[in-house]
Amino acid sequence: MYGGSSRYSEVKGTKILRVDPSSPDADLIRVAADVIRRGGTVAFPTETVYGLGSDALNPEAVMKIFKAKNRPLDNPIIVHICRFRDVNLLASNIPRRLDILAERFWPGPLTVILKASDIVPRVTTGGLDTVAVRMPRHRVALALIRESGTPIAAPSANLAGRPSPTSDRHVIEDLAGRIDVILAAGSTPVGVESTVIDMTGKTPTVLRPGGVPVEDLRAVLGRVNIHPSILSRGLMEPEKPLSPGMKYRHYAPRAEMVLVEGEDGSVIKKIRELIDEYVVQGKRVGVLTFDENLDAYSRAIIKSLGSRRQPETAARRIFNLLREFDREDVDVIIAEGMPEKGLGLAVMNRLRKACGYNIIKV
Ligand code: TXA
Ligand code: MG
Repeated sequence: MYGGSSRYSEVKGTKILRVDPSSPDADLIRVAADVIRRGGTVAFPTETVYGLGSDALNPEAVMKIFKAKNRPLDNPIIVHICRFRDVNLLASNIPRRLDILAERFWPGPLTVILKASDIVPRVTTGGLDTVAVRMPRHRVALALIRESGTPIAAPSANLAGRPSPTSDRHVIEDLAGRIDVILAAGSTPVGVESTVIDMTGKTPTVLRPGGVPVEDLRAVLGRVNIHPSILSRGLMEPEKPLSPGMKYRHYAPRAEMVLVEGEDGSVIKKIRELIDEYVVQGKRVGVLTFDENLDAYSRAIIKSLGSRRQPETAARRIFNLLREFDREDVDVIIAEGMPEKGLGLAVMNRLRKACGYNIIKV
């Protein structure tokens, strides 16, 4: 699909620049940064997922992101920085505790919601008076932001509603022909998006579980709330979403999907029954399971998120496996749940959203 080893290629008019993730080529970063400075769009790797970036302070440039992704205009975009002092440019009333958070988790997969300064265009914040700020730790991301000389607005580089992109291949699938440049650097190491924490209220509140476990945030901040829509297991839709992104269907594969949660033995039994039912209906079935249960199923396309005890592996694999099922054209995906410890909370949140809260409890 694209020129494997060559540094430059083009797909449908989108330039693909192949960079070394551990030591990004300065000349390619310069080409991409020029595009950002001129108001264009560049997809780039972060440690979580690929982002689709443009100059966060240029409203026309940010509009191009919404257009390329088909993203609803009220869904705000995270602003990425490469040095701590830029927070002062983007935010006002900065809580003192931000220092401790940044010290411990930046650069890294943590996004902080703060009161926005006047310099941030309202199209970037989806019309809100708050701004989401993050300092990623991927070398390519940091080099691009530094070289651009401006904060970079970047949502995940997928078409709205699709699983987030964890490799350049996913970005090309969704966005070739819709954006100017893709900085291609293989797979992203964390695999789920950043944890979003709202620091504007009295008690810090996690709006999206992600790459930084809630347990780690509590170790640093003490009391941290988790937004009820995350814990409700999707049985209730949030009435008034705090994070606009909460209300849209997300991470969805093209296939129908169902998540089976409960005690291991009952989950296996239920999934075997479901496979039988779907196969009788002539459907092509995919099962998303864990290494421990790989031998429990037959008559289905089986994929593993790794060991149930290794949520980091599940995080790294989840979005790629959802896209693989699509490429293999399954009609239905049956997924197993996992414990919500550490990154397990983020993985379960993505699975519940991916299936549109189509959950069977056993
Ligand atoms: O890891 C990540 O966070 C990736 C990489 C590229 O940095 N970005 C990412 O962006 O996942 P996106 O747009 O796909 O998800 C950002 C989430 C959305 O749910 C959005 O609604 C929420 O953060 N968000 C952004 N700004 C917000 C704000 N001011 N208040 C509340 N939620 C906000
Ligand atoms: Mg996204």
